[in-house]
Formats: sequence, C-alpha cells, structure tokens
Amino acid sequence: MAFPNLQWEGLSVQDQPLEVLKYAKETYGGNLKLACSFSTEDIVLLELISKISPDSTAFVLDTGRLHEETYQAIQQCRQRYPNIRFETYFPSTTQVEKLVEVKGPFSFFESIENRKECCNIRKVEPLSRALANASAWVTGLRKSQSITRSGLAFAELDPAHGGIPKFNPLSNWTDDMVWDFVRQHSLPYNKLYDQGYASIGCSPCTRPINNNEDVRAGRWWWESPAHKECGLHPLKQSGTTNL
Ligand code: ADX
Ligand code: SF4
Repeated sequence: MAFPNLQWEGLSVQDQPLEVLKYAKETYGGNLKLACSFSTEDIVLLELISKISPDSTAFVLDTGRLHEETYQAIQQCRQRYPNIRFETYFPSTTQVEKLVEVKGPFSFFESIENRKECCNIRKVEPLSRALANASAWVTGLRKSQSITRSGLAFAELDPAHGGIPKFNPLSNWTDDMVWDFVRQHSLPYNKLYDQGYASIGCSPCTRPINNNEDVRAGRWWWESPAHKECGLHPLKQSGTTNL
C-alpha cells in the first residue's frame, strides 16, 4: 500500500493536516475512526474532520482513571459537534477487577511491567475493540512530542491492528501551531492545560510540568523517556511500512 507521504511533506506545514484527512476520508470512508483523548491535538482534528464530513466517528478509551476535566471537555465537544458519533470503550470489568484485587489501585507505580499491564488492560485491549470494524484510524500524534515519535510518518500501516492504515495528520505541527489553531477557532479544551498540564492521560499518571520541562515530562514521570509509550503507539519495528 503506497501513501502519498512524500507529497504531503511538500505542502506547507499549515495545510498538511487537512490534506491528509481529506485523503483518509475519501479513501477509507465511513469506517475511518479518530482516536480522541480530547487533547488539544485531537480537538483540532475533530474541528477539521467535522468540516470535511460532519458525521465522522471518534472514540475515546475511557480507562476509568480519567480526570473530571477530561469529561468536561468530552461534554463540550459533544455539544459543539452534534453530528459526530462519539464512541466510548471501557476496559473489561473482569480484567480490571482482577488487577485491582491482586495488585491494588496503584500497581503502576511499582514497576514498568506493572505499568504496562495496567495500560494493556485499560487502553490497549479496548483499542483493539475500537478498531475491530475500522477501515483506518487517525491520531493526534506529533513528531515533536517525544524522542519516541521523532520518526513519525503521516501514514503507515498498523501491524498491531490487522494492517489497517494509521494516519497522523499533525505529524509536523508544533505545540504553538496547535494552540494558535485552538485560539483562532475558539475550540473547547481541557481546562487542565490552564493549570500547567501539557500532555494529559490518566489522572494518577499525569502531572503538570515546569516551564523548562518537555511536553511529556508530566506523563509517567518516574520512568525514563525511552519507556514512555503505553502500547497504543508501539515503537516502530522493522518491517513497519511508511510509504
Ligand atoms: S499515549 O499513548 O501517551 O497515551 P498521547 O496521550 O500522547 O498517547 O496521545 C496520542 C494520541 O493517541 C492522541 O492524539 C489520540 O489520538 C490517541 N489517544 C491517546 N489516549 C487516548 C484515549 N484515552 N482515547 C482515545 N485516543 C487516545
Ligand atoms: Fe493505568 Fe496509568 Fe496506564 Fe492509565 S496511564 S492505563 S492508570 S498505568
């Protein structure tokens, strides 16, 4: 499968997300799904996709440990985009009940293995259900978010989900570009950003950052940057296709 990655790289950075989304929507149609954590990136994508196709589908993986402010952002987006279908995927109750019974509610602080176990149960397994009927998916990933994302392409095939295409339209956008767009379009956003949070995941695993810290410093801050992926976006393995 060939994607016009190189062609998109030739466009102005500002125009890239809309063009990538148009291609994704035209090529993969109604079963294209936006993975939406209601980060500013995801809300930029909601705004763009609602212009191309107001009845698109977005899904949130509700881990059961999200912040109240995230639910408020969800509610605001439901009101702003009444025709978008917002799906919610919860983790398996059986798996969460067993995890918490055996290891308690904060097992993820004890080891990387325990942290990945919790992310697997609360995010990765629900993601596989969210994508079971998807023809392709879209994320708000950006290269500049992390050293683990520096090689990000606009489109790649996702071996973890049946080889369906995964689109990252904001790949080349900076944090400032995202915020400029949010302000220009008066988009709703998670109010935790006003309290020093720069990247928002689950409540116990997210903290605000200082001015001199990088944007993902507040995620799993007790781990080294090279480990900071939860399994939704595995590091690229040899054999993963970009073009
Ligand atoms: S994470 O892997 O470390 O949690 P991050 O928070 O940077 O990822 O988000 C990157 C992208 O992954 C988001 O823009 C969104 O597309 C997707 N994503 C992350 N968390 C969720 C979630 N809870 N529900 C749906 N999509 C998510
Ligand atoms: Fe569990 Fe923390 Fe991962 Fe959320 S981010 S699924 S609470 S380990």
